[in-house]
Amino acid sequence: MTAPAAHPVLTGTPYRGYVYAYPHKTAYRPLDPPRPLSDVWAAEPRGGLFLYAHVPFCGMRCAFCNLFTTPVPGRSLVRLYLDALRRQAEVVRAAIPDAAFARFAVGGGTPTYLDEGELAELFDLAETVMGAGLAAIPVGVEVSPDTLTAGKVALLKARGVGRVSMGVQSFVEAEAAAAGRPQPRRQLDAALALLTDAGFPTVNIDLIYGLPGQTLDSWRYSLRQALAVAPRELYLYPLYVRPLTGLGRSARAWDDVRLACYRAGRDVLSAAGYEQVSMRLFRRAGEPAGGPAYCCQEDGMVGLGCGARSYTRALHYSLDYAVRPAGVKAILADYLARSRDELAAADHGFALDAGEQRRRYLLQSILTAGGLDAARYAARFGTDPAADFPDLPAFADLGLLTFDGARWAPTALGLERSDALGPWFFSPRVTGLSAGYEPR
Ligand SMILES: C[S@@+](CC[C@H](N)C(=O)[O-])C[C@H]1O[C@@H](n2cnc3c(N)ncnc32)[C@H](O)[C@@H]1O
Ligand code: SF4
Repeated sequence: MTAPAAHPVLTGTPYRGYVYAYPHKTAYRPLDPPRPLSDVWAAEPRGGLFLYAHVPFCGMRCAFCNLFTTPVPGRSLVRLYLDALRRQAEVVRAAIPDAAFARFAVGGGTPTYLDEGELAELFDLAETVMGAGLAAIPVGVEVSPDTLTAGKVALLKARGVGRVSMGVQSFVEAEAAAAGRPQPRRQLDAALALLTDAGFPTVNIDLIYGLPGQTLDSWRYSLRQALAVAPRELYLYPLYVRPLTGLGRSARAWDDVRLACYRAGRDVLSAAGYEQVSMRLFRRAGEPAGGPAYCCQEDGMVGLGCGARSYTRALHYSLDYAVRPAGVKAILADYLARSRDELAAADHGFALDAGEQRRRYLLQSILTAGGLDAARYAARFGTDPAADFPDLPAFADLGLLTFDGARWAPTALGLERSDALGPWFFSPRVTGLSAGYEPR
């Protein structure tokens, strides 16, 4: 391990990469031959899975956004997509007829780009085709201010949605506009009022820091405006600009701006009674998440849609990955054209051997305040995390992690360096595959 003072996790950029999943899709490759889903899921516990549906449409294309989405598609394309989703759901259900779901989420893109009838179809599909009992499990949906209507909110309520997450990014109109997201304040306030009046148990607001033209003061203003709505959760995202998205710039000083905004956000929310769950997620204190047990380190995910991933312990799979509009369009077209036989197999993904499964478990744990429970890890893998990852004690010496005899958890410094600490634990294989990914 490098000498403490020179350790790159502390001295390099704090913003190497957001580890929301390990490995990233850039490490996925074609599976040859494709693997039948019934085989892929055969050895997997199927009693409490996460069901995820991806809607790859938006009412706009924000310049900063690197998510898998198509702006303003016509209604006929939406129709074709819903038909493909149903086809896929039928095929997947046939491959895992006994699966039970503990969570359902619809993400994007912007699911509320769908109209009320289309949204209703999506919920019907989750219930009747996939067999998810939506009344008994936590259900979450992502929405945006420009697509939300009173009718859609009423529908989400009626279908048992308990968590609604809305992208706001900034309460300053000019900042949002400069980031390629035209968002009149009037429209934003109206959408927030719809959500709060509806009384969803969890409203989440996404904000971004590091936007062009944003200052520490204007960032604090956005935080105050968000707190005025009293959301149960807030996600504070440092802006990442990838080479293929609209705002290309590279200023070292930008790291310092983002770090200052991060610290201001953390402190403002902590003073307002929010607990920090991870570098990005803050939740109003004293409100535990409900629903049947689901553990993101251990339980699988069934993804439906052209951008969704599916996870078993030994295989992660999805369709191909793209950022450029032409690449996204090609993957969407491929999805729409897939036959039932093609949908019944995984043909693109990443196989996790025992070492990669341990890494994933570690990464899903040590970047959250709850940390990594060494006994639970040992029960799963039969080994001690510090024996598998000898860097853990060294990171404790650097002040990034603590170990209390039972759990490895991030310190305040570790949380703010999450996007540097996480990538440090990537395997050489994953790092190499992601580096070799040709952006499309
Ligand atoms: C699926 S969107 C949220 C819902 C909806 N599409 C919207 O924009 O209102 C997920 C969130 O990712 C965040 N995000 C997207 N691109 C980002 C980037 N380049 N850097 C940081 N955060 C980003 C934004 O905060 C966004 O709200
Ligand atoms: S931020 Fe949201 S609305 Fe904007 S392009 Fe990305 S997914 Fe679509």
